[in-house]
Amino acid sequence: MSSTPVELRDVRAAALRIQHFLHTTPVLTSHSVDVLAGRQLFFKAEHLQKTGSFKARGACNAVFLEKERNPDSAGVVTHSSGNHAQAVAYAAMCLGLPCTVVVPKGTPKVKCDAICSYGAELVFCNPTPVSRVKTCASVAEETGRTIIHSSDNYDVIAGQGTIALELLNEVPDLDAIVVPTSGGGMLAGVSVTTQKIQPKCQVYAVEPVGKNLQRCLEAKQRLWSDPPTFLNTVADSMRLQAVGHLAFPIICEYTNTRVFTVTDDQMIEGMKLTFERMKQVIEAASGAGVYAAVKLIGEVQPKARKVGVILCGGNVDLDKLPWVMPITSY
Ligand SMILES: Cc1ncc(COP(=O)(O)O)c(C=O)c1O
Repeated sequence: MSSTPVELRDVRAAALRIQHFLHTTPVLTSHSVDVLAGRQLFFKAEHLQKTGSFKARGACNAVFLEKERNPDSAGVVTHSSGNHAQAVAYAAMCLGLPCTVVVPKGTPKVKCDAICSYGAELVFCNPTPVSRVKTCASVAEETGRTIIHSSDNYDVIAGQGTIALELLNEVPDLDAIVVPTSGGGMLAGVSVTTQKIQPKCQVYAVEPVGKNLQRCLEAKQRLWSDPPTFLNTVADSMRLQAVGHLAFPIICEYTNTRVFTVTDDQMIEGMKLTFERMKQVIEAASGAGVYAAVKLIGEVQPKARKVGVILCGGNVDLDKLPWVMPITSY
């Protein structure tokens, strides 16, 4: 018997649990981007998912399971830079559960407005991992609400795995998938699902500069400082420096150890390419995946013919597009 804490059956169960509340997102293609990349790219359009990001998958699975396990639940609470917060608020709204979200000061207004529009209460904290965790824990204690972590939660990881279930269902012979990575929930879910369904397909993390995930994967150890810090990156949804404790062993087991590290300018290049050639509004995290698939994957897997790219989110503040606003500090 395998000891993996998230199995394919958990991902399949998640898909059934969440199906009526979420979209099966389309897989987009672009001839002109394929020509640039020198291979066929398949873009899983999670920016068109409910709430504007893939995060709705993991959040719905975890919140719906909370209600299944605890019918008298007092509700849920989470901390997030925005997309997971919106997703948990949406999931709670689907069931009529009370919800509080702790967001760091400085979170884009478009994300805060969206969280409130799903009926959740906002609590602001300082933009440090420690402040987020502490504030969330005290709300949980005061209200009796269950904490739904953005990535370090097996139910969330199983929910994110449904991206790969759908992508491989549509394009079964993918050679590789690139996954923008912050806390590692999406990477863990996509990696375990892909390995079980299409073991030849390699899954690669794409990270902002400063994360150094490859070093940790090679050492099979979380080498980040404790407490970890936030990265200074244009991708406001990929600021966690460290991958979570629960996600990390899954990633070590199922993800390729080669990691693609991208700069702000490269993420912006990926974003612009997608706006211009595909007419899709995506955020910088998605741009990171596009850049890696177009420009970097050939260095590692030159023979890859078909590559999956997760357009993980589209929640971008149109008044603050990164090529309009100068990049200073985030
Ligand atoms: C749009 C987007 N892409 C990528 C990520 C990274 O996901 P994970 O934290 O599961 O690694 C996030 C996380 O918030 C996100 O919102």
